[in-house]
Amino acid sequence: MKLRISVLPGDGIGPEVTRQAVAVLQTVSDVCGYDFRFLSHPIGGAAIEQDGTPLPEATLAACLDSDAVLLGAVGSPKFDHCVGDMRPEAGLLALRRALGGYANLRPVRAYKATLDCSPLHEDVVRDADLLIVRELLGGLYFGQPRAVEAGGLSAFNTMRYDVYEIERVAHIAFEEASRRRRLVTSVDKANVLETSQLWRRTVSQIARQYPDVRLDHAYVDSFAMQLMTTPSRYDVVLTENLFGDILSDEAAVICGSLGMLASASIGGRVALYEPVHGSAPDIAGRGVANPMGAIQTAAMLLRYSANLCEEADQIIASVERTLANGFVTPDMTGRRKRVPSTTEAVGESVVETVTDLLQRQMAFHAV
Ligand code: IPM
Ligand code: MG
Repeated sequence: MKLRISVLPGDGIGPEVTRQAVAVLQTVSDVCGYDFRFLSHPIGGAAIEQDGTPLPEATLAACLDSDAVLLGAVGSPKFDHCVGDMRPEAGLLALRRALGGYANLRPVRAYKATLDCSPLHEDVVRDADLLIVRELLGGLYFGQPRAVEAGGLSAFNTMRYDVYEIERVAHIAFEEASRRRRLVTSVDKANVLETSQLWRRTVSQIARQYPDVRLDHAYVDSFAMQLMTTPSRYDVVLTENLFGDILSDEAAVICGSLGMLASASIGGRVALYEPVHGSAPDIAGRGVANPMGAIQTAAMLLRYSANLCEEADQIIASVERTLANGFVTPDMTGRRKRVPSTTEAVGESVVETVTDLLQRQMAFHAV
């Protein structure tokens, strides 16, 4: 098994969490005798400093030429004054579009060992296990026209969806649901927006091709509330770009920290893997960033880009075991008031555990 992985650490805590994710992947490669190669490239603020642009041509070319792309985070207050294409985030959006992954999968699970880390009651988050499927290349993020007008006194963006954009992401949601608990909840604002009416109609049509999967519709405002009161009711949550951005940060409350969430953007030429959290400049470089989002992102990479599902499962099991052993960063100390460990210590614990689990698995397969 040969994998060429482009690593884009980016800004803020991006480099430190990505280092831990790469260490876990390298461990899988070493223990299982695979050949994973990693090549790092600049993106975001780091790329603006180095090359004067948030997505250098060499970075994009390398990504397009690799089997998968692992990204840390982009965004830096240093570039807050930049506008349009010169913002670090513009580099990420251009990369997403160029790679073509239109379905952004964001799993949200409340782990048994850390139920007390959510500000929600343990009875509320227990059994929560959902997958947000966020449309990633349409809607307000990319809709044209968009502009600032009247000398900065007026601005507008366009929310636009074409049927094919809704269809293709809906298929992904139904396929994922058919491998899970067979429920898709499609989230929109069809009581107000034409784009949402088109969304609802199109998703309902696609649903007919998946008779084993139930489809529910919800309005985004009431869904946002129910996600906090009864998260375990949901399986796959299908929604458009901006709603998915907002709801996935909200859903992180279920896990206790935004630092826990992973994502995969699939359906395009090369899949892009990035934790859901941002660059968190306020805590960058202090050894306190939670690497679990990035590490679980690495597991998604193995699952979706290499079909190494057992290895991906072992990484997730190692994350769970590490949490159960009390190794957490300061964002996950919880009501049990665990003593926090560093980013590196948490990463090392996952590496040790995954080494052990993989070796046992190989010994088991050998007999
Ligand atoms: C995310 C982030 C990005 C987004 C930003 C950094 C552009 O918030 O991946 O959720 O809005 O998509
Ligand atoms: Mg976001």
